[in-house]
Amino acid sequence: MQQDKKIIITIDGWSSCGKSTLAKELAAALDYVYVDSGAMYRAITLYFLRNHVDWSHDDAVHEALENISLEFVYSPAHKQSEMHLNGENVEYVIRDLVVAEKVSEVAAIAEVRKFAVAQQQRMGKLKGIIMDGRDIGTVVFPEAELKIFMTADNAVRVERRFQELYAKNPNVTLEEVKNNLELRDYIDSHREVSPLRKADDAIVLDNTRLTHREQFQKALKLAQQKIGEQ
Ligand code: DC
Repeated sequence: MQQDKKIIITIDGWSSCGKSTLAKELAAALDYVYVDSGAMYRAITLYFLRNHVDWSHDDAVHEALENISLEFVYSPAHKQSEMHLNGENVEYVIRDLVVAEKVSEVAAIAEVRKFAVAQQQRMGKLKGIIMDGRDIGTVVFPEAELKIFMTADNAVRVERRFQELYAKNPNVTLEEVKNNLELRDYIDSHREVSPLRKADDAIVLDNTRLTHREQFQKALKLAQQKIGEQ
């Protein structure tokens, strides 16, 4: 039997819509590679914060990027790829609110995006990849065979994100999470360089009223159809 041709699947959308959960599940079902592009922007932000990089200066950004090496390394213990920054596993620390508060500012810098996008495009060379983010269907892989744009009501997204962060840090407040989400969505969709927007050929998946399973099955069906068409 002829092997199915591999495709590229992009999942873009607002913060905390469940993009990464869906992307991971789809990747496992299809035996595809999952890439969390947001983790790259978060790791760069972590480096900038730790090294007091003044990212309002192009020279400082340029020099810092020359010292940053990002790599996704598979963790057999956690059964997932984890973000390594200059050899250190930062998968968990990049999820902190301290990083979340600054990442949209850093991700709006043209040189930072150029740096991350070049690596993302290299990862897609062999196809068989699912990448989630904000500009994956519009800029990173405009030729992707399947593009999904995820959305959900604001209140639902805030509550989901709050539950996630609260489990790790009971000091976090709903207000803080709400403000952070709103600010990130605003900056991500209004920045000059590759702002968050739905690609014209993306399929909208609103999961406000979908169960986890319903959402997964819808997306899997879309993916199987596209793979079948190759
Ligand atoms: O998906 P996430 O919440 O981990 O992403 C963190 C930030 O990175 C998000 O606020 C916007 C930015 N981002 C981006 O600009 N482009 C991407 N492809 C992915 C993330």
